[in-house]
Amino acid sequence: MSDAESTLITGIGELVSNVGEPNDGKPNDGKPNDGKPGSFAAMTDAALVIAGGKVAWTGPASRAPAADTVVDAAGRAVLPGFADSHAHLVFAGERSAEFAARMAGRPYRAGGILGTVEATRAASDAALRANLRRLAAEMLRQGTTTFECKSGYGLTVRDEARGLALAAEVTPEVTYLGAHVVPPEFAADPAGYVDLVCGPMLDACAPSARWVDVFCEDGAFGADEAAAVLAAGQAAGLHARVHANQLGPGPGVRVAAEAGAASADHCTFLTDDDVDALTSTPVVATLLPGVEFSCRQPFPQARRLLDAGAVVALATDCNPGSSFTSSMPFCIALAVREMGMTTEEAVWAATAGGARALRRTDIGHLGVGARADLILLNAPSHTYLAYRPGVPQVAAVWQAGRLVAGAVP
Ligand code: NIG
Ligand code: FE
Repeated sequence: MSDAESTLITGIGELVSNVGEPNDGKPNDGKPNDGKPGSFAAMTDAALVIAGGKVAWTGPASRAPAADTVVDAAGRAVLPGFADSHAHLVFAGERSAEFAARMAGRPYRAGGILGTVEATRAASDAALRANLRRLAAEMLRQGTTTFECKSGYGLTVRDEARGLALAAEVTPEVTYLGAHVVPPEFAADPAGYVDLVCGPMLDACAPSARWVDVFCEDGAFGADEAAAVLAAGQAAGLHARVHANQLGPGPGVRVAAEAGAASADHCTFLTDDDVDALTSTPVVATLLPGVEFSCRQPFPQARRLLDAGAVVALATDCNPGSSFTSSMPFCIALAVREMGMTTEEAVWAATAGGARALRRTDIGHLGVGARADLILLNAPSHTYLAYRPGVPQVAAVWQAGRLVAGAVP
């Protein structure tokens, strides 16, 4: 389909729009996105028109306008594409033996990252690119239409810069994570490494990145170091996000709030003060249940955060160590089964929540004017994503109005 052509998807059993009053069943055709923000919304027996790469109309199927191409959803559900706001896809090698050892009782430690750093440094650009593209394609087939991608397995000026340049080939949401861990050559001089991350490495990386991130945790970077990395990144024009409170209680969430970060990610071990910080500031709490699944840790307390009023996003954290899944449906199923989220909350968190965590208003919803990033499920409602865990149910994926994965009848 060219951008000039329009596509009508009709016969939609459930259209998850994330705009309008939740479940009000009313059309929002032709109107701007003036619905209640921040909550799941859907309508039944619906239709949607794509034109110029955007959502041009939504409303009852019985009132759908004509279009160049018509797709019959035959009672199935249409949702916004997933926005996976946390992934580490530039790496070489794999760590299945570490996973097996963990399942046999060994705990997860941040130190495993260094094995991937060694393999990544030794890999060619072509090998890194091929792995990255394979994972990006895997995400797309599973309905992820936007993903964030971090560096962090290079940890030299050259290797971080090339990781980010590769990431920028496949997504605009590129994150500089030079402050992932201190590499072995700086083991005796961690302050020197922070200076490198805030100086020459940042200079080489900032042109390819939109975000700066830091792993604020025991065994990685402390509060002052993390704050310095975020401040340097922000001075170079990057926006902040933080790996926070993953392995134990700590200062990550506070550092994220003080830096005005878009998101604090993991949020597995939170004090009441952390929860207050997440509700009293615009920082999104991005939960990554693939990590707790793969590291056999307690899951984050999504219910506690939601009941307190925090904005919650779900993401995969796809990486070869702590969470080697690229599946947002899997994360939704975990969030519903293990974290006390309703199916509506989990789907909102995986779409609109991810968009919030990336400070994007053009994705995560299907209001008129949104980017036409959407998925057709082989199921009648969003509930099936958690109700049928592990089953591939994404029938077709559109990105900016183009059918990019799957097929339509
Ligand atoms: O988000 N927490 C730090 N970084 C990754 C783990 C990376 C790895 O184990 O290779 C994470 O879990
Ligand atoms: Fe991560």
